[in-house]
Amino acid sequence: MIDGKKILFSGMQATGTLTLGNYLGALKNWVTLSDEYECFYSVVDLHSITVRQDPAELRKRARNLLVLYIAAGLDPKKNCIYYQSHVSGHAELAWILNCFTYMGELNRMTQFKDKMAKHSDNINAGLYTYPVLMAADILLYQADVVPVGKDQLQHLELTRDVAQRFNGVYGEIFTIPEPYIGQRGARVMSLQDPTKKMSKSDENANASIYLMDDTDTIIRKFKRAVTDSEAEIRYREEQPGIRNLIDIYCACTGKTPEETEKEFEGKGYGEFKLAVGESVAAILKPVQERFQELSKDKAYIDSIIKENGEKAEYYARKTLRKVQKKVGFPERIR
Ligand code: TRP
Repeated sequence: MIDGKKILFSGMQATGTLTLGNYLGALKNWVTLSDEYECFYSVVDLHSITVRQDPAELRKRARNLLVLYIAAGLDPKKNCIYYQSHVSGHAELAWILNCFTYMGELNRMTQFKDKMAKHSDNINAGLYTYPVLMAADILLYQADVVPVGKDQLQHLELTRDVAQRFNGVYGEIFTIPEPYIGQRGARVMSLQDPTKKMSKSDENANASIYLMDDTDTIIRKFKRAVTDSEAEIRYREEQPGIRNLIDIYCACTGKTPEETEKEFEGKGYGEFKLAVGESVAAILKPVQERFQELSKDKAYIDSIIKENGEKAEYYARKTLRKVQKKVGFPERIR
């Protein structure tokens, strides 16, 4: 608890270009959570180097992501928006937790296996211990809740197991975090293959809506979205493409699938796709404008980075000191 509020932690990697899936599935919900919780939203750049990065590019992307957090509506006075690499406690706690995580547990992580297959030229130990760093992120701030996508649930389970194991040995040091799973629109699927999640690393640019896509591009991509030959706008499993478009439309307009079915009863896919594209463009435009505006204000962004980095550091140190003491590291002489 901080000031009577429960603590929330989440983070995103600055790799690839953020998509509508990242926005509707995460960022947009983060904004609504920031009233209820004391939130830490990190740009997790330590995680990014498990895959080889161009340094200048990584730095630029990380900064853009941080600005985007604010552009999406997160108030940096209320939410702690910071770079993971600015708080050395993440790496320090990760080391300690590595010693409380079994290789058998890490071997079971499915994302590691996927990444190993994808990056067979660089199967480094960081890729393997990635979930432990994620556990450190969460436990360092004593987070009560962690909004995550389905693909990260396994990592959160591991976080809970490691925290419980540690607490079992040393007493109640870590808060055991709960997953927070968002409601509708939480899972945006690829526009070219609606059985696959929309991904920032998809090679087919038509499969994803990027947050910075302009209105024409957005509408063009929706027009090309893969659907079916049912010629009916119905929210059902047999029509994954249409269902995905309905989900997106509902997430952007606040309507329900039933209302959407009614609204487009007897209408063609072309008309529906255009409406979906327009609803997406309308929701992204203010974010894009604010992003452009904020990007120009270097001094302001720098001040946010400094203040929030210090705030994160303060809470991280508090946990880390307790942990270091428990495991038997000597007290510092001052
Ligand atoms: N692994 C997460 C992802 O790729 C990002 C992440 C890192 C994260 N640390 C976290 C998410 C802690 C939630 C909490 O999406």
